[in-house]
Amino acid sequence: MVNPLYEQNANPFEIAQEAADQIAKISGIQSHDIALTLGSGWAKAADLLGETVSDIPASQIIGFSKPSVVGHVGTLRSVKLPNGKHALVIGARTHYYENHGVRSVVHSVRTAAKTGAKIMILTNGAGGIKRQWDGGAAVLISDHINLTANSPLEGANFVDLTDLYSKRLRDLAHEVDSSLDEGVYVQFRGPHYETPAEVQMAKILGGDIVGMSTALEAIAAREMGMEILGMSLITNLAAGIQSTPLNHAEVLEAGKNAEARISKLLAEIIKKF
Ligand code: HPA
Repeated sequence: MVNPLYEQNANPFEIAQEAADQIAKISGIQSHDIALTLGSGWAKAADLLGETVSDIPASQIIGFSKPSVVGHVGTLRSVKLPNGKHALVIGARTHYYENHGVRSVVHSVRTAAKTGAKIMILTNGAGGIKRQWDGGAAVLISDHINLTANSPLEGANFVDLTDLYSKRLRDLAHEVDSSLDEGVYVQFRGPHYETPAEVQMAKILGGDIVGMSTALEAIAAREMGMEILGMSLITNLAAGIQSTPLNHAEVLEAGKNAEARISKLLAEIIKKF
């Protein structure tokens, strides 16, 4: 199936609505309250949140492409939380570097909003610029720097990004773990890792975390009026901060080691919402 989002004249919001309607039909849940995108290392959180009502292969839902990254589960899961609310767990992220266009990158977020979700939790595995985060720290994203030179917004659509990563939600996260650090996330295009010089640039610009996702998704979520919580698992120190070369296997391994701990943390945070 050709992804309809790739067509120039397509309306991405209508396609997101169609996707949300399909999710409602298959899951039997008419409206979701919160949505989560689970990046590298965060997948286990889906099992800890509550009772799985429906686990839908993303390929069955309009506009979603097949996952291209090992470590992403490729399903949309509807979970009933202990408080009776419903969460949509997105285990299918399209990265900007896949070259399917920004509409594809943010389709999951727009779909989540159309299912009714008012809170969007964006998680990722990322490189850390601060040495103290070595060894799998979970860090709250306080702001971002978007180095993709792109935006999910089309036309003259001037969306305010002040407090993009909700202070209210970060405060709730701190109630669960007051030791959680915060940092500024810098989205690079990827898929290559950054050069040490680029990491130094990110640091000088005010960045603390480097990665290849999240910023474009957060902008789209804000456009949809959602409140956003962002969290990074520091799977490695960024290039040049650590002396050894980076590789994807190391990132996956760090994710596996941290998975139980950070998934439990995220599940506890969501109980506060
Ligand atoms: N840079 C960019 N993306 C990443 C990294 C990194 O060091 N680690 C995991 N994802």
